[in-house]
This record gives sequence, C-alpha cells and structure tokens, in this order.
Amino acid sequence: MRKVGLSLTGQDIKCIEIPAGPCGFVVFGASGDLVRRKLLVSLFRLFQQDLISEKFFLLGAGRKELSNEQFRKDTEQIICEKTKETSPLGLEQFLSLLYYIDGDYREASFYDNIKAEIGKLSQKHHANDNIIFYLSVPPFLYPEIVEHLGSSKLSCQPKTKLVVEKPFGKDLESALDLNEKINKCFNESQVYRIDHYLGKETVQNILMFRFANSIFEPIWNRNFIDHIQVTAAESDGIEHRAAYYDQSGALRDMFQNHMLQMLALAAMEPPISFEANSVRDEIVKLLKSIRPFKIEELDNYIVRGQYGEGIINGEKIVSYKSEHSVSPGSRTETYIAAKIFIDNWRWKDVPFYMRTGKRLSGKDTEIAITFKKSPHSMFASMGFNEIPSNVLVLQIQPKEGILLDFQAKRPGARKCMSTLSMNFNYADLFGTEMPEAYQRLLLDCMLGDQTLFTRQDSIETAWSILTPVLTIWENSDSKPVIYPAGSESFLQADKLIESEGHKWRKIGD
Ligand code: BG6
Repeated sequence: MRKVGLSLTGQDIKCIEIPAGPCGFVVFGASGDLVRRKLLVSLFRLFQQDLISEKFFLLGAGRKELSNEQFRKDTEQIICEKTKETSPLGLEQFLSLLYYIDGDYREASFYDNIKAEIGKLSQKHHANDNIIFYLSVPPFLYPEIVEHLGSSKLSCQPKTKLVVEKPFGKDLESALDLNEKINKCFNESQVYRIDHYLGKETVQNILMFRFANSIFEPIWNRNFIDHIQVTAAESDGIEHRAAYYDQSGALRDMFQNHMLQMLALAAMEPPISFEANSVRDEIVKLLKSIRPFKIEELDNYIVRGQYGEGIINGEKIVSYKSEHSVSPGSRTETYIAAKIFIDNWRWKDVPFYMRTGKRLSGKDTEIAITFKKSPHSMFASMGFNEIPSNVLVLQIQPKEGILLDFQAKRPGARKCMSTLSMNFNYADLFGTEMPEAYQRLLLDCMLGDQTLFTRQDSIETAWSILTPVLTIWENSDSKPVIYPAGSESFLQADKLIESEGHKWRKIGD
C-alpha cells in the first residue's frame, strides 16, 4: 500500500499552556521504580519549560534511609541518564528543591514528621498550602496511607490533592472499598486517579480529532462503521514485576483501565465542553452502555492467553511460567482478546474487537475504525467485485499519527485502482519529541484540572463489567491458552473475530 504525506498549514494554531502555581509535591514510594523511571524526569522537564513555579518543593517519602544529598544525587543520575545529557540546563536549581524523609508507612509518627517537614518547606518555598500527595507504593499500602493522611489532618486543606497510581483495586469490591476509604479523607475533587494512557498526546488527540472536525461526527456511528479494533500489543514481557503481575494479569493490568479508557474516548458522545466533569460524564455513560459479557457463552466474547517460549527479534524468550518469581503452575493471563458491544443508538451491534498482550511480535497500540463497504461496485469489470473498506487508524504508539486508507486511480493505465494510505505522523510534521504522558498529568494535577484522571464512577463501572469474568475464571479449572512468544494471536482469539468475517489487523502495520 502506498503512503502519501500531509502538510501542516498551521494558520489557526491556538495553544494554551498554563504554568502551575506554587505547590509542594509529597511522593510516597520515592525510591521506587515508577518515581525513578517517570516522575522525576517528567517534573524536571516541566521545570525546564518554566511550567513549574519556583515556589515548589518535592518531598520524597520512603522506607529506605536516604539523606537529602543522596536523594538529590540519585535523582541527578537518573535525570542525566534519561535526558542523555551530562549537565542538563536547570538541573542544579531543580535538585535544590528536592528533599527526602524516611519512615514506616504504618506509623502515625511518620505522618507527624511529614507534616512538620511540609510546614517548614512550605514556608521556605512559599508553596501556599497547595500540597499534592502522590501514592507510588504497592497498592496494599494505599488504604493505610490514606487513613493516616486523614487522621493526621494532612488531607484537610481544600487545596490538598491525592494522586493514586493504578491498579485501583483488583475487582469491584476492593475498588469500592478503596474509594470509600479515600472519600472519608478527601473529596472527589481532590482525588486524581492516574491512567497514564490518558496523558499520551495521541490519546488526547482522539478528542480533538473527533470533536474539532465536523466531517467525522456524522459518519461516526453504526450506519457507516462496520467494526472497530482496539489493540495494545507489547513485545516486552513482565520485566521485573512478576510479584505484581502474577497477581494481576492482562485483564486487570491493561484492560480494565487503558483499553476501556481508549474505547470510551473513541466511542463516547460529544461532551458539552472540554471541562473535566463534562468529559468524564460521557466516559462513564459510554462504559455503562457496554453490554455485560454473557457468562454462559464467555469464550465467544472474551479469551485469555499466556505466553510460552518463543523468539522475538531473533532472541529466545522464556515462557511466562519460567519467568523469575512466577509460579510454575501460574494461570495468570498475559493476553486478552474480547468482543464488546455497546448498547446505545450510536453503536448498537457494531463489534469492538479489543486485544492486548505481552510478548507479541511487536509493540503497537492503535484504534482502527473500519467503515462499511460500498454497497455496489461499479468497478467490477476491473476485478473489484468488492471495493476494500476505508480504514481510519488512530496510531497511539510507537507510531504516532493517523492513517486513512482509501482507493484511488493510479496514473497510467486507463483503469487502474489501488489502496492508498494518507499518513499523518506527529514526528514528521512537528519534528519535536512527544512529551512523556506523565508531564501532562503532573502539570494538570498541579493546576487542578481533573479531565485526564479517572473518576470514581468510571473505575467502578469498569470493574463491574470485568469482575464477573474474573470470578468465573478464578473459580473454574480452565487455563489460559499458551501462545508462543513472538506470535500475533492464537486460534481462540482469531475465532472471536473471524466468526463475523473479520480479521485482526497485522501488528505493526
Ligand atoms: C502499565 C502496565 O500500566 O502500562 C504495564 O502496568 C504496561 O504492564 C504499560 O507494560 C504499557 O504502557 P506503555 O505506555 O508502554 O504503553
């Protein structure tokens, strides 16, 4: 298929980027993996872009004993590694705003110490009571930390915010329970539940693309769309996260959050404004319209797999069960494929095929919208009894852009037609590196904008769709199907889509 490019006219560019006001950031789990990989570098990037006020401090809190100097040194090393620069601009100044405190999350005295430290640092840095508590600790500690924040009255300032990383619960009951505990200490308007997919530029672009262009909305429905595929394929495995992943699996790790949020953005009704609760109301409404899985025919709607050994990019990959710290009898799924229907006027009977998996042939996240075929081919004499469908692909990553496949005359022979692909690619057009999702989310949180954070009802609705499936799987003897690492799919996942005459798109296409 030939690809054609696009150019940027850029006449009407309207950009709004508001810098955050004074604030203090308290990170629980400050020496952990996520903080090292994402948070510190994203905050530094914001600082470099003058999007973080100089009236700022970060207080890392953790179990590990560290001095402020050591914490700053570690951070310096991480930032230099990530930015691939030996002395990035502004680093010294940024490091001088970092502090560290150690203690035991279960002890009230730790929170008293944190409170005293916040008092001192707020005064020193003029942070103005705008304190953000960021939970980047193992989820079993969430309830305890939240309760301590409440009882020590650290949560009671109206400007205080709580950021909670995923996983948010492990089923409906635990999510309800966690929300109840949080609600005792924080109002919903203070709570920021992170789904980092919502911070990706290409995911945010789904809203702009759909609702800032009048040509798509009239055809964005069951009358014109045949089916939609949502894919989040990874070639990576579980890295060093076996302890978490083996208790979680793909349904909890990717599907309940990232996949359902992408589905919601692609399928929801237009919000009345680009304002947090308007957008989030529509997301929840869409999730509530998802038809519950038919438990008695579950295998026709949702299937799970687990990677066996195989080869990816010429490298031999061990099976999931042989990964370090995974139990040899593990039934945890590393792949999910599902067929979802949305029972509303717009989408009735349009299948949404969703799949996500680890150790697949490549990394590829996309939403592909396949339009209905032309009702009649006037090009039958050229061998086109059926004209291929138009496909619109919202490429989320690693390719970041939009593709539209259409048929066109090829020059030369009188009758010659082929499928072309109109290709918009962020990197080619804007030439800049895309900001890390966390940059957007951290800045929004400091600004008090909850649009890209999942609301309590959204989390609970997502769990209510999936908890019956988890219950069936966990209470039966059935096991995930083993697929070779490096493959694209497996029979049961193929059957799910082929039963309606469709095919999975090739991963990485
Ligand atoms: C995380 C999951 O939320 O998202 C990981 O826990 C997964 O298992 C990751 O690998 C994928 O994120 P991204 O941004 O690389 O697509």
